[in-house]
Parts: sequence; structure tokens; C-alpha cells
Amino acid sequence: MIVCHCQSITDHDIHAAIDWMRAADAETLITPGKIYHALGKSPECGGCMPLFLSTMRRNEKLEVPMHLRSLRKGAQRRTNTG
Ligand code: FES
Repeated sequence: MIVCHCQSITDHDIHAAIDWMRAADAETLITPGKIYHALGKSPECGGCMPLFLSTMRRNEKLEVPMHLRSLRKGAQRRTNTG
């Protein structure tokens, strides 16, 4: 299924890019921008972002590594405590 019509990116392309990035680096944070970059493309209109993101979220390898999940809480604690 075509997800991004501007760049002819399919759901298969997105899953393949996520799988490749996760295999290359178990700790990487995977973003839509990194997927476009991995595919050698860049977004144009952005109209596909809701579908692009929902396609990404269906991939079980998208998960943020466990030790990086609490970084926001830590930053908020540091901000609150001065
Ligand atoms: S449809 Fe994806 S950038 Fe336009």
C-alpha cells in the first residue's frame, strides 16, 4: 500500500527501513525523518504524516529502548529541582 504519494513510499518500505535501522543500531530512536533519509528521499507536502506515523507504530521494532524511556521524566525532575 502506498503511504506517501509524493515519494512513492509503501508500508513495506517503511517496515523494511525500521527493521534495517533497528538491526544496525538497537538503541536508535526512529523518526519519520530518519526513515525518509534511509530511503534516500525527503517529504514534500507532509500530507501522509498521520498514515506514515500509524504505519510506523504498527512495527514492533519501533519501540524506544527501555533505558531511554524515562529521559523526559529525568529532565523534568532536573528542571523542577533547579
Ligand atoms: S504524501 Fe508524503 S510528503 Fe506528500
